[in-house]
Amino acid sequence: RAEVVINGSSSPAVVDRSNESIKHNIQPASAKWKHNETLSLRIRKQILKFLDAEKDISVLKGTLKPGDIIHYIFDRDSTMNVSQNLYELLPRTSPLKNKHFRTCAIVGNSGVLLNSGCGQEIDTHSFVIRCNLAPVQEYARDVGLKTDLVTMNPSVIQRAFEDLVNATWREKLLQRLHSLNGSILWIPAFMARGGKERVEWVNELILKHRVNVRTAYPSLRLLHAVRGYWLTNKVHIKRPTTGLLMYTLATRFCNQIYLYGFWPFPLDQNQNPVKYHYYDSLKYGYTSQASPHTMPLEFKALKSLHEQGALKLTVGQCD
Ligand code: CTP
Repeated sequence: RAEVVINGSSSPAVVDRSNESIKHNIQPASAKWKHNETLSLRIRKQILKFLDAEKDISVLKGTLKPGDIIHYIFDRDSTMNVSQNLYELLPRTSPLKNKHFRTCAIVGNSGVLLNSGCGQEIDTHSFVIRCNLAPVQEYARDVGLKTDLVTMNPSVIQRAFEDLVNATWREKLLQRLHSLNGSILWIPAFMARGGKERVEWVNELILKHRVNVRTAYPSLRLLHAVRGYWLTNKVHIKRPTTGLLMYTLATRFCNQIYLYGFWPFPLDQNQNPVKYHYYDSLKYGYTSQASPHTMPLEFKALKSLHEQGALKLTVGQCD
């Protein structure tokens, strides 16, 4: 039986950073792309051998109690105690229990979204996933508004909300959380010790102001399981990015997956400059050796899946 070929080479790809955007020309073009249902189902089955999005999307209340000690995934020697607030916000059942959607959008944060006009198309999908509390209101024409799940790495609190140093920043975060209006807020709380206080601040705000969000905290095994799946398919990632985590989870509950805002390159397909994020002035950090991500490598794998019809990547304008 034919294997899914995600990365043709058996060794980690050496990334030539010159002219990367040319190498990554996306084919087939949008209008010609066709969904390959058989392949999508095969990928879902393969991924299910490593993880189950229904379970791994969040630790559940029944499995932890206040005071329990957790070792951080990336800092095994550091621990945290499950606080009363965290315990209260753990879901009782999986927010994805028995969920199935015809089409899902995963919206990455690349500046390639600017002037894409993709907002309307993104909002037509049955389930829309966004990353790291990226703003939508001011960019609605290009990124849409619908949000069913949004992730929040604790570092976002520092980067986008000044570590809540004063009432103004606390209020900004609070407004953003209120605007989520019942969607799932996915917080990787057990990854690195640096996020400890930030997660606690957010949990406290949510409870104190009765913010209407459904919190979820990914399981302790998720990251390794996702990495394991990709490594088995010869995609030698260091640490999966949020975008790749979301795609891997989405294969479980989405029939068709559409990716927008995935473009980790400083030039677009027509050689025009592209911002790293559509909404801030962050620079291309992934090029540094110290960065935990291997985004161009991930992109290559996603592009190959696009070519085979397992997912659809949009990196230009929407029709
Ligand atoms: N992304 C991309 N190209 C960019 C920026 C982002 O493909 N230029 C995708 C990545 O998959 C990324 C996702 O969009 O995971 C969300 O972007 P970001 O918020 O920057 O996510 P991370 O890099 O995973 O977050 P962090 O820096 O906190 O680890």
